[in-house]
Amino acid sequence: MYSLLRKILFRFPAESAHNFVMSFLSTTGRVLPLARWFTYGGRHRKGVPTELFDLQFPNPVGLAAGLDKNAECYNELSDFGFGFIEVGSLTPLPQKGNPRPRMFRLPQDRALINRMGINNCGVLSAISNFKQRRPRTILCASIAANSTTAAENIGKDYTKAFCMLYDFVDMFTVNISCPNVHIMSDLQDSDTFPDVMDGILESRVVMDVYKPVLVKISSDISTEQLDYILDYCLRNGVDGIVAANTTRSREGLATPQESLSIIGNGGLSGAPLYHRSLSLVRYIHEKTNGRLPIVASGGIMSVEQALEMIDAGASLLELYTGFIYEGPSLVGDIIKALEKRRAERHSEAMPEATPSKAPEPQENEPAEAETEAPDYTEITDIQPQDDPAGTPEEPSATPEK
Ligand SMILES: Cc1cc2nc3c(=O)[nH]c(=O)nc-3n(C[C@H](O)[C@H](O)[C@H](O)COP(=O)(O)O)c2cc1C
Repeated sequence: MYSLLRKILFRFPAESAHNFVMSFLSTTGRVLPLARWFTYGGRHRKGVPTELFDLQFPNPVGLAAGLDKNAECYNELSDFGFGFIEVGSLTPLPQKGNPRPRMFRLPQDRALINRMGINNCGVLSAISNFKQRRPRTILCASIAANSTTAAENIGKDYTKAFCMLYDFVDMFTVNISCPNVHIMSDLQDSDTFPDVMDGILESRVVMDVYKPVLVKISSDISTEQLDYILDYCLRNGVDGIVAANTTRSREGLATPQESLSIIGNGGLSGAPLYHRSLSLVRYIHEKTNGRLPIVASGGIMSVEQALEMIDAGASLLELYTGFIYEGPSLVGDIIKALEKRRAERHSEAMPEATPSKAPEPQENEPAEAETEAPDYTEITDIQPQDDPAGTPEEPSATPEK
């Protein structure tokens, strides 16, 4: 079914198809909530409950930033089964982004190249949407500075977006890694990164309710930059890392060089990004001894890759390009695989609780038939088995939901 829809959508320019789908979703959300629910809602509700940052995620598979840039369709998108939705990136003021065309498909590589330039309607418009459409999902806001902001005021822009959105979302990602915005080119350096983060973390201290703050790094980050950022995060109470954003690299692509030259600059996402993001997840997990929760983003196109990311140390996953190429079934398939794995580990961990006559689970047996849904305390089930730290550290204050 989705392959037919994808064939049709792929006949249109990438951004037009994207805009069409977003308008469709937001219209069905307003006009036909019941039909929408029957069409693609109500599935995967059992999920893989995951507690992290004192938030209870119905499952660890989220939607990455950039698809719901203006926070218009988070409820409808969550009906595809996502355990959380990252909206934005949002800037204090609205901005148009780069001139079109700025989003391209590379079907031979199952990839996208985009140079959107953080086009978005601004924080105030998102807040108005949050007020009108009460979120039915865990919401993460990705925040960024306006691209025309002077270098000395970039930190203030981030803090402003953070404070304005604080009451409306559950958690934040600080986007310092967009490859398509000039002012972000050096925000991962040790002399600029604290200017972005200090104001955000100081503002959080005076808030009544604690909300997690994560940092989204680039796929192209140097080891020196990454080590500095990890050290800063551990010392200053940053709650986690999103690894990673798109890459500028064009290495190893099947798409002909001629087509790549016509497309031009932009961040590459999808299948070719996978090994980069996997090694980043592995590196961060090992370097921090599992003390900094990781949200894996980048090239997750299959169930196997999702599981491998979790084995490498990711606590949560995010999809973007995989969702475009594989469709909503990818979300459900990952959740089912996680359910199955959790049920298997559960029964391995408690062999004496299994009656001696109970039949062994069959390989192809649906996971639903195997056990009851485990409760939220079982986050350790999806941690890698060799995780020396076990459940990641939790923030000191308890967020109210
Ligand atoms: C068209 C497009 C727009 C994006 N916009 C943003 C954005 O505004 N903020 C952000 O942090 N990431 C943005 N991203 C990056 C994604 O969130 C994600 O990290 C990246 O695409 C890698 O994941 P994937 O390979 O699953 O797509 C965008 C990606 C695409 C393809």
